[in-house]
Amino acid sequence: MNCEPTLFPTGIVECEIIQWFVEPGARVEEFSKLCEVQSDKASVEITSRFEGVVKKLYYEAGEMARVGKPFVDIDIQGHVNQEELQKLTPSPSSPSSPESLPDSAGEAAPVDPERPAPDAPQKPDGAVETPVPVPASLKPKGKHAALATPAVRHLCKEFKIDILEIDGTGKDGRVLKEDIHRFIQAKESGVAAAAAQPTTPGARADAARPPSSSPSSAGAQIETWQPITKTQEGMFKTMTRSLNIPHFLYADEIDFADLHTLRSRLNKVLATTPSSPVQSVRNTEGVSKLSFLPFIVKAVSIALQQYPILNARVDVSDPTGKPQLVYRTQHNIGVAMDTPSGLLVPVVKDVGAQSILTIAAELARLQTLAVAGKLSPQDLSGGTITVSNIGSIGGTYCSPVIVEGQLAILGVGRIREVPDIIQQGDGEWKVKGMRKVCNFSWSADHRVVDGATMARAAGVVRALIEEPDVMIMNLK
Ligand code: COA
Repeated sequence: MNCEPTLFPTGIVECEIIQWFVEPGARVEEFSKLCEVQSDKASVEITSRFEGVVKKLYYEAGEMARVGKPFVDIDIQGHVNQEELQKLTPSPSSPSSPESLPDSAGEAAPVDPERPAPDAPQKPDGAVETPVPVPASLKPKGKHAALATPAVRHLCKEFKIDILEIDGTGKDGRVLKEDIHRFIQAKESGVAAAAAQPTTPGARADAARPPSSSPSSAGAQIETWQPITKTQEGMFKTMTRSLNIPHFLYADEIDFADLHTLRSRLNKVLATTPSSPVQSVRNTEGVSKLSFLPFIVKAVSIALQQYPILNARVDVSDPTGKPQLVYRTQHNIGVAMDTPSGLLVPVVKDVGAQSILTIAAELARLQTLAVAGKLSPQDLSGGTITVSNIGSIGGTYCSPVIVEGQLAILGVGRIREVPDIIQQGDGEWKVKGMRKVCNFSWSADHRVVDGATMARAAGVVRALIEEPDVMIMNLK
């Protein structure tokens, strides 16, 4: 028998499928995670209410799933008795009956054993459709103020409170955790009536804030809700997808002394007047100053020539289901940028064909546009690997997160001075001076990149930074 869980038939929304935890053929138990969908407040993990075998996924990750429609087929042959089937077969009114709604956003609803079994239409071939959770905000208004998440109902149980006594301040009067805490607090201080005062949704944060003169509420936890920004929304989606990639971290310490010297020398040249012969020959790009980043980006590109796998991507779309590697000729290096609107990752295209100066000019162009919030979709797309120079802000190490469609990312730590300790002829150690060092933290996709390959490629980048003159031999 096939079972098709569906999104709730409220008829108003779509939910985005963020990621699947199962694939056709996968065996699932009751409460096994099926997928993650994006709700208005948080991502929601939807779990199976059945034991069985996944037959079909109706949507790809990233697609919008229609509320009220099936989104997965589960073969539950032999696992459902007639009584359960009866429950799953819809009565004309039941699909939209709020009583049948399972618990909602932010928590894996079926984990709660008290959750009522939702209704599910039965298909002619024996398949049944059952609903899955929807965000709280999507539920019918007004009628079921006591509807609450499993965690909230658990809390009520723990404190032996009847949920119906509490006026919820959540969407549609839903009872929230802080409503319970406020209720208990008020009850303890003998002002339960105050706790039962309804507040309008939207004014939740202010309403929840206790009056400053009230000693009874001093020290109470206050939670406020705020929608995420557009940039955070993009980051949320990208990084959620990145969770599918098994990362491994490889960190290395690089001596920046020679690059520091070379950069200072070049910046002196760039600081000469634009009409000077040296400038006119050497700086056709109008770059006024070089940071370390163009050298790092170029070094990564040169290493990619030797280790092209790090510029590849994994493709799992083959009908046989066998993953493939897609190699790419151009090194399009995404560069993480901290901007007033948040993290953006514009892409320096075809770095292999560029000089340090043209890379610097392109970085300057992208940074200006990023700060002004004017990057085009072209500027932001097509990356094959990423460099994140978090060290320009601070930090020694980081654990960078690989972007979907890429296999590696480099996080650059802060360049710092450490004592240069040498051993003398007599065996004694002495501080010779100070060294400029910087830690490079690489993350790679361990499904296809092994540690040895990553270490060798990182070694090439390190050699190029430590002996930047060698880079000149590779410049086009
Ligand atoms: N360690 C120490 N100093 C560094 C450095 C590092 N890793 N990287 C840059 N600097 C120095 C530069 O040399 C420059 O100093 P100077 O003027 O004395 O020469 C100064 O910091 C400013 O450099 P910046 O203008 O930031 O240039 P950049 O080319 O190095 O970096 C950006 C440009 C856009 C990448 C950078 O400004 C930025 O946004 N970094 C943050 C990236 C980020 O948020 N990553 C996290 C992603 S999760």
